[in-house]
Amino acid sequence: MSSGSQKNTIKVLIVDDIADTRENLRKLLAFESDIEVVGAAGTGREAVEIAGQVRPDVVLMDINMPDMDGITATKAISTVVRTAAVVIMSVQSEPAYLRQAMLAGARDFLTKPISSEELYATIRRVYERNEPVRLQEAQMSTVAKSKGEPVKAHRLTPTAGAGHIIVVYSPQAGAGVTTLATNVASALMRQDTRVLLIDCNLQFGDVDAFLNLQSPATIADLTKAIHDLDQEMIDNVLLTHGSGLKVLVAPPQPEDAYDISPESVKELVRTLAGGYDFIIVDTSPQFDDMTLNLFELAERIVLVCNPTIPAIRNTRKILDIFDHLAQPAGLSEKVIFVLNRVSNDKDRGRGTVPTASIENHLKHPVKATIPLDDRAVLTAVNQGVPLVAKLKSRSPGQEMVDLAELIRRSVESEDDAIQPEQPTDARSKSGIRALFGGAG
Ligand SMILES: Nc1ncnc2c1ncn2[C@@H]1O[C@H](COP(=O)(O)OP(=O)(O)OP(=O)(O)O)[C@@H](O)[C@H]1O
Ligand SMILES: [Mg+2]
Repeated sequence: MSSGSQKNTIKVLIVDDIADTRENLRKLLAFESDIEVVGAAGTGREAVEIAGQVRPDVVLMDINMPDMDGITATKAISTVVRTAAVVIMSVQSEPAYLRQAMLAGARDFLTKPISSEELYATIRRVYERNEPVRLQEAQMSTVAKSKGEPVKAHRLTPTAGAGHIIVVYSPQAGAGVTTLATNVASALMRQDTRVLLIDCNLQFGDVDAFLNLQSPATIADLTKAIHDLDQEMIDNVLLTHGSGLKVLVAPPQPEDAYDISPESVKELVRTLAGGYDFIIVDTSPQFDDMTLNLFELAERIVLVCNPTIPAIRNTRKILDIFDHLAQPAGLSEKVIFVLNRVSNDKDRGRGTVPTASIENHLKHPVKATIPLDDRAVLTAVNQGVPLVAKLKSRSPGQEMVDLAELIRRSVESEDDAIQPEQPTDARSKSGIRALFGGAG
């Protein structure tokens, strides 16, 4: 039975397409005074919707369901309601699904048929384990209410960086985001220009590999301490590349990303920006609350696209969203649209779409074109040295240097034209759900 009346009740959402199963679970849970069933759903899609409304602490999730399967729903719920711990319910013979479910963000699993003891123990265990996430979210929402003020008076050395935040993004995996982020950051470096490169591809970040850096300390160490950051802590976590570039790397394991909230990343980037002239942010292709937070913060969004049909289609979708978003508004105007992997070689370029057609289709001008050069790009990655550091006067290093200069000019000439953020934060309360019409 319940471990104590002073504790909050654990809010549980039951998700299973079989009505009898839902009812049995509901009856079992009714005996426990510290557990309250706050909702039930028969499909994955319904589960995501209800989870957004009732914000459960624990979700009991079936895998095979019509409409949207349990793994997809787990991923969506884990991203949108970070305080919800998903427990997968499956029959014994589904180890491959279980692995996928854990990668999607599930915290535990139960094997059907489920005994009542196991059910109660698992719910209480995942709830307790999720305590730090609940605390962190509670703190972050208190901060959000303080209307865009810095989280706390950070004990940071006062600096006077221009703080231009440049987010590099592509909805298409492998488009060259990390290649361009590392090279642009490196090309922006000058004696009088301080540059920080942040790897916000939290699950599969590889900036460290691109720059041949190793570090036990990562972005997770700073987001964890977001309320108590001090200069010494930051200095201990940031790495210095041989070129002088400052780098903040992503966590080593994909699952570490689940403990990092989008709000804490936003707050961290904002805080660090004060000490640098340029902050270049590498991102994952996922379009979620974190990317949206970063776009909101960004002064420029370098949108990377390859000249292929799937990449163009995904870019179209992103540009459409940017055009129609009320909050944060003005994302389209921040876009610097870049084509990467463009080949003039008749054979190699076969099947790719000409730049003029892409511009025509997307109604967006291509601001930079980076040539395809497998050998040069791969050699640089293998050596851990940005291309622009070695081959800046030769293609494709030259084009990357040009892109960096274009970015520099665009922010320096329009310093007052674009205000990075309106701190009303109406959107961040409902997050990406609001964007896709879900309940807030
Ligand atoms: N202009 C180019 N010419 C040739 N190869 C390139 C070019 N740009 C990137 N690549 C190669 O494409 C691959 C993917 O690049 P990169 O890792 O930069 O993409 P990404 O968008 O960051 O991918 P992910 O979605 O995995 O984060 C790498 O092997 C890189 O060497
Ligand atoms: Mg990458």
